[in-house]
Amino acid sequence: MSDIRFDERVVIVTGAGGGLGRTYALDFASRGAKVVVNDLGGASDGTGASASMADQVVKEISEAGGTAVSNHDSVSTPEGGESIVQTAIDNFGRVDVVINNAGILRDKTFAKLSPEELEIVLDVHLKGAFFVSQPAFRSMKDNGYGRFVFTASAAGIFGNFGQSNYGAAKMGLVGLSSVLAVEGLKYNIRSNVIAPIARTRLTEDLLGPMADNLAPECVTPLTVYLASEANENTHDIYSVGGGRFARIFVGLCPGWMAEGGAGSVVSAEDIQANLDQIRDAEGYIIPNSIADEMGLVAKAFAG
Ligand code: NAI
Repeated sequence: MSDIRFDERVVIVTGAGGGLGRTYALDFASRGAKVVVNDLGGASDGTGASASMADQVVKEISEAGGTAVSNHDSVSTPEGGESIVQTAIDNFGRVDVVINNAGILRDKTFAKLSPEELEIVLDVHLKGAFFVSQPAFRSMKDNGYGRFVFTASAAGIFGNFGQSNYGAAKMGLVGLSSVLAVEGLKYNIRSNVIAPIARTRLTEDLLGPMADNLAPECVTPLTVYLASEANENTHDIYSVGGGRFARIFVGLCPGWMAEGGAGSVVSAEDIQANLDQIRDAEGYIIPNSIADEMGLVAKAFAG
């Protein structure tokens, strides 16, 4: 097994001024990467801004002999996203890796959620990842190389009380990554998703006694591996935290084909009668694109 190195590689980590992002930035730099440390430097609810968080991480990297530059733009506007990618190109000539990590919380039960609390969370997590990834993708396509890691959450993939805005944004990132995996394949661009569990300012009141075993550094190796040239996998989702690493997937079950065959219009009662078979997970596949689903539909049509 060879060392995972990032010499000559340029890595953007959004929200790298603290928590998980800081650990990624430090690890990438220690492996030879030139790192853009982006952070708006506000509070965990998305209010405020300050240059000091990103600047502090750049200082840490420089003191350890690494190469990094800070960027203080918000990911949540098209101009911010462009500027973050331009910072990489202006300082280091290219962009090879984007770690979409910046995030905030505005938890509220669904019945009480305001439009503002929805907007700001979608803006940072979902639109923010679009705004940074799109200019980076264009550049990676020209270079014939790229790696994306998106940060989702179990709150969206599995569901969690009081996080409808956050869960929707996080599951949206799974969709975005799946499409980038398909569109990027022929350009040697890989896109994967992590759903981390870590002790940071976002979770300090939530993890209880498990927090002691959930240092952010336990998440870092998976993110760094997925961002490396060694990783050829794409379209994946991983649960990661406290030293445990596990794949999550979206599966498609064999289902039930109406007795009348292709084009059948059945009744709601037919659905009721066949629900066990429709829901049966036995024999599922993990589609890599919509084409895999259409293949199964075509097979069912053929009988
Ligand atoms: P954190 O609060 O320490 O890190 C998030 C960083 O993003 C902060 O440094 C913040 O200043 C920055 N940020 C916020 N809005 C920004 C914006 N508009 N532009 C640029 N930077 C911005 O929290 P943590 O836990 O390290 O979060 C990192 C990512 O992991 C987030 O996307 C979060 O939703 C996700 N996550 C974390 C989990 C955990 O257990 N800690 C669980 C599931 C997901």
